[in-house]
Amino acid sequence: MVQMTEIRSALQRVIDPELGADIVDLGMVKNVQMDGGHVTVKVALTIAACPLRDQIENEVRRKLLAVPGVTDVTIEIGAMTQAERTALMERARLRAREEAEPTMVHPNTRVVAISSGKGGVGKSSLSANLALALAGQGHKVGLLDADIWGFSIPRILGLGGERLEAGMDRRIVPASAHGIQVVSTGLLLDDEDTALMWRGLMLSKALEQFLRDVAWDQDLDYLLLDMPPGTGDVQMALSRLLPQAEMVVVTTPQLAAQKVAARVADMARRSHMPVIGVVENMSGFTTPAGEHFPLFGSGGGRALAEDLGVELLGAVPIDPRVAEGGDAGNPVVVADPTSPSAVAIAAAAKALTTLLPPIADDGCSARLTLVAEQLAKMGA
Ligand SMILES: Nc1ncnc2c1ncn2[C@@H]1O[C@H](COP(=O)(O)OP(=O)(O)OP(=O)(O)O)[C@@H](O)[C@H]1O
Ligand SMILES: [Mg+2]
Repeated sequence: MVQMTEIRSALQRVIDPELGADIVDLGMVKNVQMDGGHVTVKVALTIAACPLRDQIENEVRRKLLAVPGVTDVTIEIGAMTQAERTALMERARLRAREEAEPTMVHPNTRVVAISSGKGGVGKSSLSANLALALAGQGHKVGLLDADIWGFSIPRILGLGGERLEAGMDRRIVPASAHGIQVVSTGLLLDDEDTALMWRGLMLSKALEQFLRDVAWDQDLDYLLLDMPPGTGDVQMALSRLLPQAEMVVVTTPQLAAQKVAARVADMARRSHMPVIGVVENMSGFTTPAGEHFPLFGSGGGRALAEDLGVELLGAVPIDPRVAEGGDAGNPVVVADPTSPSAVAIAAAAKALTTLLPPIADDGCSARLTLVAEQLAKMGA
């Protein structure tokens, strides 16, 4: 049985890109009906002919289909009445005032948490390489090392000696590596002692700080998060701070996937973060002569994707260049872009952008005019 509360929280994760608030809060969801696994939802846009219409419709569909038990979705799009529009603007303004300091991550930035059901499967290696592959495909990308204790991103990206600094506005300026913005606790700490001190002090707040106090580019297309192993607090904190965040799950080809699937599904449910795809890593080893050895089994990625009802975004082979590149601070995607692992990672990045295209920021001029009109009417 699909619960109305789950439907509601899925809809709350659809953010109106122009107003920066969720469509439930904005009063754009008019009616929700459920008939078994079939959900019908009425959405009222500020004006029906808005270019953002498709985008909002697609997001509603995707988020609803991610709710376990929902099999199909009908979306009826309508337009708000004048009175509703006024009320909406009032809510948007109130919200903006209440949450004077939301995160520095722009609502148009796609937030993707790279997670796994167990440790050591290659989350950090893939986060870094996927981020670089996305950048190579022309996107603006940020990478947040959310593994506060066990940070490994600075090493992988060759940022060993760098430290983050505060800018003029006292915001932390991200480091830059191969054209992407990078933030990690490893770029704050000078030595192990300081590290220990920081642990108790700011661990619980670190993610929050990284989202609120870092001067992330306002036009980032994607912000990838390298999640810590385990399925705990960081996921919860992330979904609270950035309700638009979604999860990509990394797994190995071992067919012990069932247990992993259960764990991931549980994590997704508890953190209200939908899983959008699976990447299989360490998918066999191919010798230079072309002989293939499925060292860690096979089929685990596809099985997990099927269990979770999401797409398998790609399968990355075991490749010493992934490990070497990570140790040398020169990731394989950049160091050796034609190697099979780099090609596989680039394909996974492409699949991710197909599923989650960058959010168009060519707003809706009619809507913006309307916003201005309404503000003027309200005496702003
Ligand atoms: N496709 C691959 N081929 C060869 N080695 C790999 C591959 N992917 C990852 N590795 C290596 O496996 C080890 C673990 O990878 P990584 O640190 O990225 O995993 P993780 O999931 O982030 O681990 P943790 O859970 O500890 O954060 C690293 O030494 C890395 O270089
Ligand atoms: Mg890691």
